[in-house]
Amino acid sequence: MGDAAWWQRGVIYQIYPRSFMDSDGDGVGDLPGILARLDHLTWLGVDALWLSPVHPSPMDDFGYDISDYTGVDPVFGTLDDLDRLVVAAHGRGLRVLLDWVPNHTSDRHPWFQASRASRDDPKRDWYIWRDPRPGGGPPTNWLRYVGDSAWRWDEPTGQYYYRVFLDSQPDLNWRNPQVQEAMFDTLRFWLARGIDGFRIDALVALVEDDRLRDNPPNPRYRPGEDFPYMRELSVWNIDRPETRELTARMRKVVDEVGDDRVLLAELGVPLEQTVAYYGGAGGGIQVPFNFELLSAAWDARGIAGYIDRYLAALPAGAWPNWVLGNHDSPRVASRLGPAQARVAAMLLLTLPGTPILYQGDELGLEDVPIPDEEALDPIARLVPGRGRDPERTPMPWDAGPGGGFTSGRPWLPLGEGNLARSVAAQRGDPASMLTLHRRLLRLRRRVPALVGGRYEPVEAAGDVLAFLRGDDDQRYLVALNLGPDPTRLAVPDPAAGGRVLVSTRPGRDGEAVGGVLELRGDEGVVVG
Ligand code: NOJ
Ligand code: MG
Repeated sequence: MGDAAWWQRGVIYQIYPRSFMDSDGDGVGDLPGILARLDHLTWLGVDALWLSPVHPSPMDDFGYDISDYTGVDPVFGTLDDLDRLVVAAHGRGLRVLLDWVPNHTSDRHPWFQASRASRDDPKRDWYIWRDPRPGGGPPTNWLRYVGDSAWRWDEPTGQYYYRVFLDSQPDLNWRNPQVQEAMFDTLRFWLARGIDGFRIDALVALVEDDRLRDNPPNPRYRPGEDFPYMRELSVWNIDRPETRELTARMRKVVDEVGDDRVLLAELGVPLEQTVAYYGGAGGGIQVPFNFELLSAAWDARGIAGYIDRYLAALPAGAWPNWVLGNHDSPRVASRLGPAQARVAAMLLLTLPGTPILYQGDELGLEDVPIPDEEALDPIARLVPGRGRDPERTPMPWDAGPGGGFTSGRPWLPLGEGNLARSVAAQRGDPASMLTLHRRLLRLRRRVPALVGGRYEPVEAAGDVLAFLRGDDDQRYLVALNLGPDPTRLAVPDPAAGGRVLVSTRPGRDGEAVGGVLELRGDEGVVVG
């Protein structure tokens, strides 16, 4: 473990800048706000922050529609503010990662404005323009994320453009070498300013089939349950071989400045496809997001089986990672309930690999219900019930007005329940979710075996998920009860004689553990 990279040892904390801290009272979080709250992150004990996009944007998709890749949107501050944040973070030993959105720009990006203006514009080919099929209609049957045709008719020049997300998020044409270079240059711009890496947005959507073959239907589609685009198997427009090849080039760009920069990537494809993004000989994405915990049924046997399959599927030298929450998924505390959210936190922070922690999950924040009619997220209108505002509500810092988040009117409500879960309310409480996170993060720092040690599953039944972490000298037992009823686990020899180091439920620290470990309902423990 001595030679592990910082992003292998560390924990990455996702900041959704609109909702972290507002410094100027406009109700929207900003960079000076993040700077002012860096102490929270060092106190908590994370190692890096990844910022969802802060670039100039019309905000149709709250920053994932970028109109200038090398600037900072005034709502978030200035380029100087970002530079200052990076210096301050580095001064505290925190790395800073930016979100990089290569698949699409805003339709107000000058590139698209030029591309859209005429068929002869030199930038026409920077996006994906096609004629209707013979006989009329969109060139292929491909669906966009919200379930209708991925092709959008554009009257002025009489062609369709391709966009996998909103109308105002046209896909770039990554087959065009000028696009590749222009986008790689945006990475270089930020690397030169000291950015430690990037989370790549929607990577699998990058390249589409150039022969425009139609997708087959998905025989396993569950209407109402699955996202509407899943009606078809997106084999020709998602996760194309050309995309995988491009990741090696992205990696080369970040490696130009040294070997300590990291690429994370959002994929959202099945396990076998996800692990392909590590690339040959580790030359691709170092952290291809493992999204299983975002949607897995909360079932001990199922999760144990997935951990085995995932670890077995990793190519040689690949480093695992785990994502428990993000700005696109319901909050873990709402999915699993508050008691199991604590168990999930213990799982996230003791599994082998890099944990990615979403802002506010350390407080046990829950989704704030926002009716579709009042939603700000456009997805709520396009796919009713799937809006993402509930998991994007502002951080509650204290009991003051605006929850200490803003002196103005917050862009989304903080929610009564979440206000009671503020940082100030939890900081001094030994039994709080926040304290549990801090203790687990400290334990990781103190016990290298939890970070770099082997993972060995422990035989368990029912709701118990158990494993050992460590090496031959020192092994730690993690035992998690994923159900509400008390249960027990036969402790494998190496851990017998250990003590409870942390429990998700209070009142057990230091307890000696013998041959049988009693677990209360909803309890997880680390024994060592
Ligand atoms: C994934 C991002 O996480 C999500 O918030 C966004 O809407 C889409 N990609 C499009 O950029
Ligand atoms: Mg694309």
